[in-house]
Amino acid sequence: MTTDHIPTLEQLQAAAEVINQHFAQMPQVGIVLGSGMGALTEVVADRHGIPYGDIPHFPTLTIPGHAGVLVMGNLAGHCVAVLQGRAHYYEGYSMQQITLPVRVLRLLGVHTLIVTNAAGALNPTFNPGDLMLICDHINLVGMAGAHPLRGPNLDALGPRFPDMSQAYDPALRTLARRIAQERDIPLHEGVYVCVAGPSFETPAEVRFLRLIGGDAVGMSTAPEVTVARHAGMRVLGVSGISNVAIDQPTSERITSHDEVLETAEIIVPRLTELIRGVLGALPRA
Ligand code: HPA
Repeated sequence: MTTDHIPTLEQLQAAAEVINQHFAQMPQVGIVLGSGMGALTEVVADRHGIPYGDIPHFPTLTIPGHAGVLVMGNLAGHCVAVLQGRAHYYEGYSMQQITLPVRVLRLLGVHTLIVTNAAGALNPTFNPGDLMLICDHINLVGMAGAHPLRGPNLDALGPRFPDMSQAYDPALRTLARRIAQERDIPLHEGVYVCVAGPSFETPAEVRFLRLIGGDAVGMSTAPEVTVARHAGMRVLGVSGISNVAIDQPTSERITSHDEVLETAEIIVPRLTELIRGVLGALPRA
């Protein structure tokens, strides 16, 4: 028996059709906003929003800091589709359900996806408020079997066995580094580890994640990037470091979702500047 809810191509198409009825323009760039990062939509010009609840098969969201609105408009000369808020596996959805919006963006015409998240720092040189360009990920949840491409392959979108050797586009990363340097935005680079949550990690788990090569840890992103790469999208990933993951049981600090949302307020202006700069330098399709 399986608890997977696996959307069909017809369901993805039905969602895309409803969105097409609301917006005349075809988006080329998709942006997924992490916890507390919704304010980034304020820089989108001529924006129109459609609540996820009005789009068939889109997940409805239950977590503070995730509005659950698809915002379409213009940013730095590009027609963008912004997923303001994401569903998480820990909310009870299947991996296939939480990644459905990204696959729908592909059907709408999106070829470049910018994914953001709030993440805990594993790398001891990172501080809350910092940005980390994601150069690669470890999908612990996917490796353990909860994989967003489990089930019949949607051949119309991509291959059964997609390559993930360059999941985070090298040219987009080079561009992001250049923009960060030009605009004095401090930007680390590192490996993102995806865990299921919703509990934060124990200190032993934090030390383990560091040992396996992680620089930041969070509860999202890797599944979305996997379906994006399956469908041939170019991906840029940026983590906003919201907290330092606690690696000793003797630490007097604790981690909370409130802390994650508070730091997002510092992260959003930097992230907005970086994304706007990257899009400004990207050729229009
Ligand atoms: N761990 C897991 N997910 C997170 C964290 C963390 O420390 N911070 C923000 N999302």
